[in-house]
Amino acid sequence: MCGIVGYIGDKQAPPVLIKGLKRLEYRGYDSSGIAIINDSRIEVFKKQGKVAEMENLVLDADPQSSLGIGHTRWATHGSPNDINSHPHYSNSGRIAIIHNGIIENYASIKEGLLKRGYTFESETDTEVLVNLIEDVLLHTEVSLAEAVRIALNQVVGAYAIAVIEEGNNDQIVVAKKGSPLVIGIGTGEYYIASDATPFIEYTNQAVYLEEEEVALISLKKGLEIRTIANKLIRPYIQELALEIESIEKAGYDHFMLKEVNEQPKSIFDTLRGRLIVDKNNISINALNQYEKKFLNADRIVIVACGTSWHAGLVAEYLIEGLARIPVEVEYASEFRYRNPIITERDIVIAVSQSGETADTLSAIQLAKAKGATIFGICNVVGSSIAREAHIGAYTHAGPEIGVASTKAFTAQVTLFTLIAMSLAEKKGSISKKLYRKLIRELNAIPKKVQQTLNLDAQSKHIASVYKDVSNCLFLGRGINFPVALEGALKLKEISYIHAEGYPAAEMKHGPIALIDADMPTVVVAIKTEHYEKVVSNIQEIKARNGKIIAIVNDGDSVVSKIADHVIEIPEVDERLSPLLTTIPLQLISYHIAVMRGCHVDQPRNLAKSVTVE
Ligand code: AGP
Repeated sequence: MCGIVGYIGDKQAPPVLIKGLKRLEYRGYDSSGIAIINDSRIEVFKKQGKVAEMENLVLDADPQSSLGIGHTRWATHGSPNDINSHPHYSNSGRIAIIHNGIIENYASIKEGLLKRGYTFESETDTEVLVNLIEDVLLHTEVSLAEAVRIALNQVVGAYAIAVIEEGNNDQIVVAKKGSPLVIGIGTGEYYIASDATPFIEYTNQAVYLEEEEVALISLKKGLEIRTIANKLIRPYIQELALEIESIEKAGYDHFMLKEVNEQPKSIFDTLRGRLIVDKNNISINALNQYEKKFLNADRIVIVACGTSWHAGLVAEYLIEGLARIPVEVEYASEFRYRNPIITERDIVIAVSQSGETADTLSAIQLAKAKGATIFGICNVVGSSIAREAHIGAYTHAGPEIGVASTKAFTAQVTLFTLIAMSLAEKKGSISKKLYRKLIRELNAIPKKVQQTLNLDAQSKHIASVYKDVSNCLFLGRGINFPVALEGALKLKEISYIHAEGYPAAEMKHGPIALIDADMPTVVVAIKTEHYEKVVSNIQEIKARNGKIIAIVNDGDSVVSKIADHVIEIPEVDERLSPLLTTIPLQLISYHIAVMRGCHVDQPRNLAKSVTVE
């Protein structure tokens, strides 16, 4: 996600801002920039690429300034490039803004501003916001802080912003809703940032802005905080006792654990603007644009690797089950070399968190050459696979730093669920009643994911019992068979324990020969049409002294009597269940890896993005 910094005080601002942005690089970004007040004029230095590249622009100009704002951009609206990077000027150049978040109603605001003669050079929602603020300033006699407050009352969405005004080198106006913003209070100086890492070395006195608060930061006037409803707020100054590294992980021990716990938000953000609950509708722009292609397609071929391939397998159950469109799921590394039969009547969906996986990129280049329509599902805006695809949709999971993919997986499954439901509705292959039921249930998923995360202590206990095993089996049926595969991959890649996932019914075709008291089996055994069969599978394992760890629904009264350990998760429609059943498997693997002293975020031999064959 984006990073924000700001400074006003007696130091030279540019080096403070740049060093602060480097502290925020861990958040992931594709471009950066700063805006400073130099001799009453606003100067902006911004560039796609690393902070160090933008720093060179600043060093060449060597500006003098004691006030400025800075930004690292994680693209959500508009590709990564110099023009879309922040800060953004208003039309007159009188004010400049940086922004972390998403303005959901930016299109309607932009339409109004265009009618009033405003022009835009970027594709961003942020440039719309800075011109809305300017429009308020031009039509009223209010201060910058008041203009920001008035403008934000017209905004729907999430923001952490900082705004500076030409001719005023004693104020920065900031505001917060849905994205973090903290003010560092030094001696005769103030800092602002997305988290405390950029200023913790200078001061540990901090004020965390609350939702819908606007603050005026001025050396002469001090710190004044108001709500966007204009109620004066007394600043609550905290003394931070955090180390820089723990702030980057938001207090979690590892990025992986932070990202597992971000899943309610990453799923919510992936649904945002696409699941329109009050209208009982789903709207995915790329799908709407290519509706005919999808509805007339002979089949959908999904190509991916690793965890993304597991998300593709879940998608096969969803799309075939709901939209009745044939789906094939292929390892990209196999697809690209087997001279596949692909025609222009095929849709090929590439799934990739990084958007840079070499095998997946090559697979879609091959499919494209054979005439297929390519749909990309990536988590990194402007990545190679996203750019190679004809169309696509992004998972808004935010940067995933841990090598083991967690929030990206559930974001991919969330997006596939939306796609399957939307195609089914367009085809009329499901009833309005079921469509509305699934919309309501999908809307409740972030909350149920949080409830499932709250069961972490049970996963940790189970991990303590099985941390020294050498092998482990994971079983699931139906749409939870890919979840079993994903659970096995998580365990093997971060704890180095050999693990395999199987369809539960496959046990009798060989794997049951492996069962003994030293072979634990994790079984997804939630209430589905397969439930009784899964109970039989569990009994077959128990009869051979196998240990059972079962993921069941709240109140389960059968499996919980025969399994050695159960984790009870909230009830949910089977089609949405992978979004919940995956969570305990992520946590069990995480805790086992920690207990085994493994390097959870950077497991041996692995890379976060496999950009080579
Ligand atoms: C999953 O935890 C692994 N990190 C790996 O299997 C990963 O899913 C695979 O390399 C694909 O990466 P991508 O999603 O970035 O294409």
